[in-house]
Amino acid sequence: MIMSRTLLVVFGMLFCTAAQAEVDKHARNLAASCSACHGTDGNSEGGMPVLAALDKVLFVNQMKDFKSGARPATVMHQHAKGYTDEEYELLADFFAAQKRH
Ligand code: HEC
Repeated sequence: MIMSRTLLVVFGMLFCTAAQAEVDKHARNLAASCSACHGTDGNSEGGMPVLAALDKVLFVNQMKDFKSGARPATVMHQHAKGYTDEEYELLADFFAAQKRH
């Protein structure tokens, strides 16, 4: 009995780790489209806004405002249109976890 419960916990942990790795991979793939302007880890160069370590709520709100047009933008309103709210969350998590140089 105790043995099977232990196994269950171990399998549970394995599953969570695998699922988390998938989420991270998806987020990294999404973030790759931003790297041309914002850098691979969100440390933009050449005067672009730095995304590394940006507050998650602020990030998601900016993306929604770009999409709706509430925040005027030169290019970001176009980029923001290509993603769902769920993907904004993934991107926000990814960039919030990056270190600002
Ligand atoms: C072609 C260059 C370019 C690409 C690609 C790009 N951005 Fe941007 N980003 C900008 C510019 C320029 C701004 C400033 C607002 C504007 O003028 O559009 C900006 C602003 C932002 C901001 C607001 C930051 C702040 O501090 O106010 C966020 C968040 C953001 N971008 C996220 C992203 C994400 C996420 C992606 C990828 C899905 C992305 N950007 C791709 C150029 C780019």
